[in-house]
Amino acid sequence: MKVFLDRLSKYFGQVKAVDNLTLAIEDGEFVALLGPSGCGKTTTLLTIAGFYKPTAGFVLFDDKVVNELPPRERNIGMVFQSYALYPHMSVLDNITFPLRLKKVSRKERETKAKALASLLRIEDILERKPAEISGGQQQRVALARALIKEPGLLLLDEPLSNLDAKLRVTMRAEIKRLQKDLGITTILVTHDQVEAMTMADRIAVLETGKLQQVGPPEELYNSPANLFVAGFIGTPPMNFLAATLEKREGKFFITTERFCLPLPDSVTMKICQIPTPHDVIVGIRPENISIGQGEIRGEIYVVEPLGRDTLVSLHIGTEIIKVIAPPTFRASPGEQVQLTFSEEKVHLFDKETGKSLLV
Ligand SMILES: Nc1ncnc2c1ncn2[C@@H]1O[C@H](COP(=O)(O)OP(=O)(O)O)[C@@H](O)[C@H]1O
Ligand SMILES: [Mg+2]
Repeated sequence: MKVFLDRLSKYFGQVKAVDNLTLAIEDGEFVALLGPSGCGKTTTLLTIAGFYKPTAGFVLFDDKVVNELPPRERNIGMVFQSYALYPHMSVLDNITFPLRLKKVSRKERETKAKALASLLRIEDILERKPAEISGGQQQRVALARALIKEPGLLLLDEPLSNLDAKLRVTMRAEIKRLQKDLGITTILVTHDQVEAMTMADRIAVLETGKLQQVGPPEELYNSPANLFVAGFIGTPPMNFLAATLEKREGKFFITTERFCLPLPDSVTMKICQIPTPHDVIVGIRPENISIGQGEIRGEIYVVEPLGRDTLVSLHIGTEIIKVIAPPTFRASPGEQVQLTFSEEKVHLFDKETGKSLLV
């Protein structure tokens, strides 16, 4: 099923929970709605599901406006953060419940439930009650219950947030694989950028109800459209430093009190129209800084070994930045070091608007 949100808004009194959101989702696509708590993700999902009427705009399924269609006629499956399984029913009855409502025969119900249980590897627990199975199993049961109607659209609202860290990593991969196997159009709501990055074909980033950027994970990582997306995608987050963009003898530089960095042609090409000097925020990811040599001086603040690599916090003047160093890196607090920014990986944002100057 194709989904199109056309200038969709949902207000609660003065609160613009969803604000003029336009988003097209292809048939079979896996899209994540990503943003901090309160940015309007759940409201968007519940409006798509039909539990809320839009304040303005339209929800279209396969090119048809469904604004007036009640949820049960929308051909959707939903999994919420709390799985809301029926505690007094067995796992099997929980899974087949939506089909019982539709008066599907017992035989057909059980055949479908068993096929799904096998896909989700919960065949062994069908006779148990929800209280007698683990969190990960409950999660799978909730998914099976959402899928048994063979919906055209699967809506997932923070479905992994009740699982422990290790199980989350497992279920992430499981849901991603299941979605591809079934080819079911899926919208995942999450505040966890790693979840969105790893699972989705495309990510739509929201802040206070407004769409900030939509694109494949690599695009959001490599070419964030503004400071918000740049700071939200990637862990540890991108470093930001206030600087001035200057032009001397036809060449562009970024200067701060502490350093002056020439910009490579790849960057210069995109900013040659910008009048200088111009106040900017320089963005550089921790993985794009190396310690050892270079023009930029820093002072080690703290070193955190992580096994695969080492996270280093250091001061440049009064600002603190983070660097991912090799696992063998050693240094003591207070030590002076020299740094290099991978110049091709430098991001520039307008200080006033927060918009990227490079996209
Ligand atoms: N039923 C409601 N009544 C009033 N305000 C609401 C309601 N639901 C959500 N909101 C408000 O709308 C905004 C978006 O909420 P929500 O969609 O739940 O965010 P998210 O799922 O991204 O955390 C928040 O400011 C929230 O307080
Ligand atoms: Mg929510």
